[in-house]
Amino acid sequence: MQTNRQPPTSSTDPRFTPLWTPEQIANRVADIARKIDHDYASNPPVLVGALKGSFIFLADLVRQMKLPAEIEFMRLSSYNAGTESSGHVRVAWGPSVEAIKDRPVIVVEDIVDTGLTTSTALGHLRRKRPASLRVCTLLDRPERRTTKLTVDYVGFTFSGRFVVGYGLDLDQRYRGLPGIYGLEDDREN
Ligand code: IMP
Ligand code: MG
Repeated sequence: MQTNRQPPTSSTDPRFTPLWTPEQIANRVADIARKIDHDYASNPPVLVGALKGSFIFLADLVRQMKLPAEIEFMRLSSYNAGTESSGHVRVAWGPSVEAIKDRPVIVVEDIVDTGLTTSTALGHLRRKRPASLRVCTLLDRPERRTTKLTVDYVGFTFSGRFVVGYGLDLDQRYRGLPGIYGLEDDREN
């Protein structure tokens, strides 16, 4: 039986190789939480999770932080299906002006790939006049970047393969895997 706790291995599913274990992820998330606690000690941030992929990372991050961060979400979509970006990013909805105006805001992402999604999120939030705006991402794949973007907090930097687990999906599957897995058939980059 294939459960949510195991990577897919059936012949109909692509095979995955483990990249980061739950323990390795937890250690990096704790590091990031400590950094944010330190940087925002005098003024706790509003964390804006970019749905859907960031939901597990954000949940773990906020529980590792000591500061009383506020939580908001925004919904963006960039991928149509499969592993290639559509190149079109849409903000379906985001936090209210009241939630972020004059506040220090951190966008929390699952992965920054081309950077289009994050740039779109930043543009949307900037119009609501936060006091400051930073980016925190669990995964960063800088070689694929097509937009100029500063990423302030990063869990793991890597290159190449498409990844799933810990919130990240392939066609809406595998988000519940506790570790992060890479597709074995590397796509072109
Ligand atoms: P970007 O706009 O190209 O930076 O893509 C960002 C979004 O694409 C992320 O929030 C993910 O939802 C998705 N994405 C990019 N690379 C991967 C991957 O390797 N696995 C799963 N989702 C990905
Ligand atoms: Mg996705």
